[in-house]
Amino acid sequence: MSDPLLPELLRLAQEAALRAGELLRDGRPADLAVAATKSSPIDVVTEMDIAAEKLITDVISDHRPQDGFLGEEGASSEGSSGLRWIIDPLDGTVNYLYGLPTWSVSIAAEQDGERIVGVVAVPMRGETFHAVRGGGAWATGAWEGERRLAVRPAPPLDQALVSTGFNYVAEVKAHQAEVARQLIPLLRDIRRGGSAAVDLCDVAAGRLDGYYERGLNAWDVAAGDLIAREAGALTGGRPGERPSRDLTVAGTPGVFEPLQRLLEDFGAWHD
Ligand code: IPD
Ligand code: CA
Ligand code: CA
Ligand code: CA
Repeated sequence: MSDPLLPELLRLAQEAALRAGELLRDGRPADLAVAATKSSPIDVVTEMDIAAEKLITDVISDHRPQDGFLGEEGASSEGSSGLRWIIDPLDGTVNYLYGLPTWSVSIAAEQDGERIVGVVAVPMRGETFHAVRGGGAWATGAWEGERRLAVRPAPPLDQALVSTGFNYVAEVKAHQAEVARQLIPLLRDIRRGGSAAVDLCDVAAGRLDGYYERGLNAWDVAAGDLIAREAGALTGGRPGERPSRDLTVAGTPGVFEPLQRLLEDFGAWHD
């Protein structure tokens, strides 16, 4: 980590993610309700998504007022420093709404378009993941110090455990279900965790062999993609491309390419 800016950005992202995680964990109203819907009636936002994004942008702007923001709940500014924060204040809103534990706070810093810092806090696991470009990927847990992350050795594809997610729009979801139907017999099994950022960190931590999803936004993957790559995972989109809304694929080397090829064969990004 030779650039002196990087530790400062990492500390700031960690502070903001931990404070937002505490707010979400401790401040969740017992009668939490849906505040609004977005792309479809099941694409929900709660008051806590909005409160967490405000807390994160306030913490970061206090220290670095010149930086820009891109946040799922509307944070959007260019800034003048060349540095932009990409924020998913609550990744896994549906799990959070139901009281399921798999949700996270995802914060990445991007400099001149390149992701340089990523932090994903998973409060109900007491676990926080982080990576700085070129510095490896790390996790800290409630009962342990910093642990360096590494992907699993690749199994044959038919023994790979692969996670995915489904879009909020019914037609896209129906197509995703069809792709998953074709994929399941060719893998050990499929998981649907409910937080793209956690899925990517679980690939980094060697808890999954791979992950793929269609329809994700930059805030879903910005931090998790860096963490997965710094742990030795390969990530991409359609063959030869970077992750995009069309497709995000991550995997331990040896699983990534055959998985990406199968997704191409099954037309994972077509309607
Ligand atoms: C969602 C989660 C989910 C994924 C969806 C995302 P949100 O984000 O990451 O796992 O399947 O595609 O939109 O809306 O809970 O922040
Ligand atoms: Ca959302
Ligand atoms: Ca998300
Ligand atoms: Ca979100």
